[in-house]
Amino acid sequence: MALATIVTREDCDIPSALRHPALAFPVSPMLEIKEPQTMSTAKIPPKVLTELNRQLNQELEAAHKYLALSLWCDDQNLQGFSSYFAKQVSEEHVHAKKIADHLIDRGVLPELAALGAPKHAFKSLLEVATHAQAMEHANTQGINAVYEAAIAAKDYPAQVLMQWFINEQVEEEAWCLEMIERVQAANCAGGFSDLDRHIERYLAKKDTSAS
Ligand SMILES: [Fe+2]
Ligand SMILES: [Fe+2]
Repeated sequence: MALATIVTREDCDIPSALRHPALAFPVSPMLEIKEPQTMSTAKIPPKVLTELNRQLNQELEAAHKYLALSLWCDDQNLQGFSSYFAKQVSEEHVHAKKIADHLIDRGVLPELAALGAPKHAFKSLLEVATHAQAMEHANTQGINAVYEAAIAAKDYPAQVLMQWFINEQVEEEAWCLEMIERVQAANCAGGFSDLDRHIERYLAKKDTSAS
């Protein structure tokens, strides 16, 4: 009876950097590590890939910025606003994951960039709200840039993905405007306190419409 063939690490096409002396056991060729496509070898049109990866990082940076807003509000005893901005942190992470999933589904390993330090000191709640609005506006411009690249390259999957984001940004920008208008209207200490108590309800349209 023939002995079963033992396949060693060396028989498999495992990059030498991933080999370790402790792995001195037979491995199956089925365990071969897949080489992910990189930014330079992917089949996604290069400009679209660059824009998608940039937008992924912009969504992560938006999450980081919202966290700074949440902490500032927490420090000011504005629990409603703090909670609202904390929810935005989660949402931006979901957005980043959507793009990461899209890239991985198309065989590309996303490249994460270093996050810049967010603005963390503000003079007023109105400045916080205005900062959030500017951030969402920049996010909309970033998404539009991805969409324009996808149209130019006839990249239909990326176009469909970005259509979801384009719709999302209409709501995001509408909420920011509403938030600014409500903060401007609450122009006394008691008004801010009432607004803070109810801000989540005011800005919870998305949760309501999604359920
Ligand atoms: Fe987003
Ligand atoms: Fe957003």
